[in-house]
Amino acid sequence: SEAGEEKDLVIIGGGVAGYVAAIKAGQEGFKVACIEKRGSLGGTCLNVGCIPSKSLLNNSHLYHQILHDSKSRGIEVGDVKLNLSQLMKAKEQSVTGLTKGIEFLFKKNGVEYVKGTGSFVDEHTVKVDLNEGGETTLKGKNIIIATGSEATPFPGLEIDEKRVVSSTGALSLEKVPESLVVIGGGIIGLEMASVWSRLGAKVTVVEFLGQIGGPGMDTEISKTAQKILKKQGIDFKLNTKVVSGDTTGDKIKLEVDAAKGGKPETLEGDVVLVAIGRRPYTEGLGLENIGLDVDERGRVVIDSEYRTKHPHIRCVGDVTFGPMLAHKAEDEGLAVVEYLKKGYGHVNYGCIPAVMYTHPEVAWVGQTEQDLKSQNIAYKVGSFPFSANSRAKTNADAEGIVKVIADAETDRLLGVHIVGPGAGEMIAEGTLALEYGASSEDIARTTHAHPTLSEALKEAAMATYNRAIHF
Ligand code: FAD
Ligand code: NAI
Repeated sequence: SEAGEEKDLVIIGGGVAGYVAAIKAGQEGFKVACIEKRGSLGGTCLNVGCIPSKSLLNNSHLYHQILHDSKSRGIEVGDVKLNLSQLMKAKEQSVTGLTKGIEFLFKKNGVEYVKGTGSFVDEHTVKVDLNEGGETTLKGKNIIIATGSEATPFPGLEIDEKRVVSSTGALSLEKVPESLVVIGGGIIGLEMASVWSRLGAKVTVVEFLGQIGGPGMDTEISKTAQKILKKQGIDFKLNTKVVSGDTTGDKIKLEVDAAKGGKPETLEGDVVLVAIGRRPYTEGLGLENIGLDVDERGRVVIDSEYRTKHPHIRCVGDVTFGPMLAHKAEDEGLAVVEYLKKGYGHVNYGCIPAVMYTHPEVAWVGQTEQDLKSQNIAYKVGSFPFSANSRAKTNADAEGIVKVIADAETDRLLGVHIVGPGAGEMIAEGTLALEYGASSEDIARTTHAHPTLSEALKEAAMATYNRAIHF
């Protein structure tokens, strides 16, 4: 790129938020450049997040199922062996295929891809230290910050990505550890616990709160999920805080404190995964050069149209407010370009689904029972177990429940919570219903194909105002 040439839009960060905004801007006819330092597009999600974790989850599930759940199905296999390096290769292939795909979409939509690290010189100028050496300068009428997030470190336990790992190291272990201790029973902790437990590690999850899955998961669903995961061999220590760690010995030692009057204890692991949350990433971005502040949690402060206090500089994705989820980042990437082009855009923050890709999956949208109780909103609940769903039973994969929450008076849908097979796909229906302001009766009166897992959602919706048929 010519130094000093002015773009309509310069985007810093080629993760989900940034690359989607870039493609959309290209489609809208903007002259747009996207700066990414990683050497490949797609950010955390495609490179070290959503995609590689789902590859490992899918293939470790297949392995585990072949080992433990095939004989009764009439499938007899001989010697089943794990080839971890091939499992990792399959993961890398899915990542590369998708990241290259975005490069192709950049070309197709006229997006200039600048490989390097961007930092603000002034309010319209971004200097880029190029990955291949040297630097260039981009000027933008508009600029979008989409620099994402990074793992929150645990004080006193330095991450070497070998023995003490963040999710990034946990996605690339060279052998199955005998024992793995996971600090943090949130989504990353539970997904990675599932992968390595299925491959043979003894896994213990230490969680500070009284429930797994983070505070956003409905408590009843969380308890059900925990029981199922426990049966699969994962150990849980809830209401327990890791206070310190010692990496000097053969095994890593963690001192933990039970929050509710229990005794302090020492846990040992060959590998420790730190999964206590993520924090916004703005290092080296030069925000100080343009007088932009971050809040107490490191988030770039914006208004409802994604504007920082310099209105032509906007910000989307993990680096600002809201849930740190790829689909939220993606929709903000679209909305921010709509604001630039048309002056209006839209993301419904009350209607963002969340999915935990364990087996069975956990998925939800809208409000939990604990949310509604704390706001004194009167609600009714309809539940339906997968053990009464014909398809789930036929598949011999029938653990879990669907729970529909509706307003006590109006029957308007308030939340859908699922733990069960296919929950992550099924939540799309609940999300659409919530987005369109459906009642639970609207869902129940919609014909659902038989035999499908989605009938469990229909019957749970029926159960909010009447009775389910099959339970
Ligand atoms: P990022 O994806 O972090 O992208 C930001 C990009 O900006 C990075 O590539 C970074 O290199 C680049 N960058 C930063 N600073 C600069 C700079 N100064 N110059 C140039 N480039 C810069 N979410 C889901 O919805 N579903 C999932 O299944 C899921 N699984 C996950 C699994 C794991 C293990 C992890 C860690 C996260 C997962 N997430 C998942 C969360 C998801 O990855 C994030 O919400 C999403 O990537 C956020 O997108 P983003 O564009 O805001 O940030
Ligand atoms: P998280 O915030 O979801 O969970 C962290 C957990 O660690 C919390 O339950 C917290 O109580 C616990 N914790 C904190 N300090 C602790 C301590 N000292 N000892 C014990 N427990 C402690 O964060 P996580 O799992 O690291 O994920 C980060 C982000 O990535 C999340 O925002 C998540 O949404 C996103 N993500 C999404 C996925 C998906 O959508 N499937 C998959 C993986 C990540």
